[in-house]
Amino acid sequence: MPIALLEALKGRRSIRQFTAHEVTRADVEAMIDVAVTAPNHRLTQPWRFYVLGPQARHAYGAALGARKAKKLEDAAAAEALRTKIAEEHAALPLMIAVSVVEDANPEIREEDLAATMMAVQNIALAAMALGLGTHIKTGAIMNDAAARAAVGVPEGERIVAVLNVGEPAVVPPPKERRSAASLTTWVP
Ligand SMILES: Cc1cc2nc3c(=O)[nH]c(=O)nc-3n(C[C@H](O)[C@H](O)[C@H](O)COP(=O)(O)O)c2cc1C
Repeated sequence: MPIALLEALKGRRSIRQFTAHEVTRADVEAMIDVAVTAPNHRLTQPWRFYVLGPQARHAYGAALGARKAKKLEDAAAAEALRTKIAEEHAALPLMIAVSVVEDANPEIREEDLAATMMAVQNIALAAMALGLGTHIKTGAIMNDAAARAAVGVPEGERIVAVLNVGEPAVVPPPKERRSAASLTTWVP
């Protein structure tokens, strides 16, 4: 049993291409049920989950597209890029945005961020158990007013990750990584 878990952990990949297979409500509920069991100092349960349907995904993609289009001088090319990115997001099987409720205490805020990222990892691993894959996305877009509005996240919450979720169409090979031994110091 433990070996199977280790193999599964090593087999996780960021999935960038999905099939048209539907991610069901039951799948999403199963993933979030596991997310909320992540380790959490003081059991603050700081995580919140936003399951984005096609309209919200389109709006989120439009916000992302608008940011990328700013770099283009040609107005028609900028509009085409915005539309393309919005439509690509709408066409994803599913997106889940994960936010953290921001505590006033900086120490708790840091712990809560760490716990919420563990919840994100749980979603990624639960997805694999359901035959699904995920791609975790972050960046300045998470604090963009239009993106926050697309997700519907209220004041006092910070989006910390957005996961694209779906059945993998392509599972990429593992990326080259440094060996665990080269990163480990055994302190006597
Ligand atoms: C916190 C976090 C943020 C990430 N943000 C992005 C992102 O914004 N864009 C992206 O393409 N990949 C993002 N990734 C995915 C990484 O690029 C990916 O994990 C890395 O390339 C290793 O590939 P693997 O997950 O298939 O092993 C993120 C991963 C994590 C853990």
